[in-house]
Formats: sequence, C-alpha cells, structure tokens
Amino acid sequence: MSLAERTALITGASSGIGRGIATELAAAGANIVVADIREEPKRGEHYQTDATVPTADLVEAESGVEATFAETDVTRESDIEAAIEAAVTEFGGLDVLVNNVGTHVHGTSQELTAEEWHRVVDVNLTSYFLAAKYAVPHLVESEQGRIVNVSSVNAYEGGAGPPYSATKAAIVNLTRDLALEVADAGVTVNTVLPGVVKTPMQDQNDAETRRSQAERTALPRVGEPSDVGAAVRFFASDRAEWITGAELLVDGGYAIGGY
Ligand SMILES: NC(=O)c1ccc[n+]([C@@H]2O[C@H](COP(=O)([O-])OP(=O)(O)OC[C@H]3O[C@@H](n4cnc5c(N)ncnc54)[C@H](O)[C@@H]3O)[C@@H](O)[C@H]2O)c1
Repeated sequence: MSLAERTALITGASSGIGRGIATELAAAGANIVVADIREEPKRGEHYQTDATVPTADLVEAESGVEATFAETDVTRESDIEAAIEAAVTEFGGLDVLVNNVGTHVHGTSQELTAEEWHRVVDVNLTSYFLAAKYAVPHLVESEQGRIVNVSSVNAYEGGAGPPYSATKAAIVNLTRDLALEVADAGVTVNTVLPGVVKTPMQDQNDAETRRSQAERTALPRVGEPSDVGAAVRFFASDRAEWITGAELLVDGGYAIGGY
C-alpha cells in the first residue's frame, strides 16, 4: 500500500487522530501537509501525554518524507484555500485530502447557544465541504485522487450532543454526494467512523466516562490514533481504488457493544 511520490493534506493533524493519520500516510511514503490552527501538539492528561514534537517534524524524522505545516483555521474559507494552494506549490500537486478536524461542545439544546452550534458545524462539516471544493480540481489532475472523511460512531447512534452527532451523520451523506460527483474522474471519497480513541479530545472525559467507554469497546483496548491511520492508509492506497462512497467503522466493536 505504497503512497510514494504522493502528497496528502490532513486537517487537524497536529494532535490526536490526525497526527496518527499523518504518521501512517508518511510511513507509506506520502509527503505530508499538516493543516491545523496550531503547530504544537495538544497534550492530554491521560492520553497523548508525551507528544511534544510538531507532526511535520515527527514524520520527516520517522519516515524520511517531506512534510510542512500550513497554519489553517478551518472556519476561514481563505485559510483552507491557501493551505491547499500551499500543498500544490510545495509538492507539485495534491493526491489525498483527509478531512479529520473536529471539535465537540458539551450541552443540550437548552444549554447551547446558536454561536456554539454554528462553531461545531463550521469546524466539523462546512470545512469538509470547503476543503473538498478547493481540493477536487487537483485530485482530478492526480488521477489517483482520494478524499477520506473522518466521522464517528456517533453518526449512527447519536448521544454525543446535538451539533456533534448531527455533523457526524451529515459527513456520511456529504461523502456519498462527493463520491458521485467525482467518480467519473476516478477519484474516490470514503468515510471512516472511529470509536473511542486515545486523543486530547477524549482526555477531557472524567474517569467514569473513560472506564465505561473502555468497557463498551468489545476488543480488549480502546483505540490508538494509528488504528484510524491504518484504515485511512488503506482508503488512500491503490488497493482501495474500487471502493467509493463507503463507510468503515474503526471502533474495536464499540457499535456492536451498544446493541
Ligand atoms: N477521539 C475519539 O475518540 C474520536 C472518536 C470518533 C471520532 N473522532 C473524530 O476524529 C477527529 C479527530 O479527533 P481527535 O480526537 O483527534 O481531536 P483532538 O481534539 O484531539 O485534535 C483535533 C485537532 O484539530 C485541531 N483543530 C481544532 N479546531 C481547529 C480549527 N478551527 N482549524 C484547524 N484545526 C483545528 C486541533 O488543534 C487539534 O490538533 C474529529 O473529527 C473527531 O470528531 C474522534
């Protein structure tokens, strides 16, 4: 599943799952563009406690590929456009777009403000549309173009608060429409749906929540960012060239544990 001589741009890749995806795609030989609002990895109290080196430096040192950081606030359309242009300018094209960035706000419909709602929708959903909008012409040119969108097991069952659950479900249908749009050009668009993965986002949960999440995960451990990275690596590879509009749960059996 080599990605040698290809370029991958990953949103939200300074920390957590995005960092794991960058590591896996670089291990397959891809040059990496880290598009994130911050360069330094977020460090958790329980998970990802030892991440200090920026992702671009990490993958260059580990895999010998070329990597760059593009400072990007994905709520700004102009930042997204600039990050994609930076990838094309620096590496001569773009082959793989991974929409991974995500945020979560706790609260019910009675507690959340319209501003909080819009913020989650902008980061988790609108940025996926905009990144695809600016990436597609380059992915078509690549002739091996790939988009992989990161949703969540919450797409199927809710329970993570209104804006988060709604955006994660919407990503599944966004993937399907994009997949139809670009199929004739041989570009594939797929979704991965992680379960509980050890990242700074999950780190915010209290001990009881972390314990019950681990208990519900059918396999004997919760996920590592590299577990999701491995699935993205497959979708990005030539071995997945006849798969599009599909969804892959990467959750250690969390979904089956809920039924
Ligand atoms: N961790 C899990 O258990 C889990 C489970 C299911 C789905 N997911 C999904 O996986 C994806 C990654 O989650 P994670 O747990 O690694 O999150 P995280 O919070 O640990 O990392 C998110 C990254 O996104 C960046 N980011 C946040 N807002 C941004 C913005 N406006 N512009 C640019 N970058 C921004 C952060 O700086 C950070 O590097 C998200 O889409 C999330 O919903 C995570």
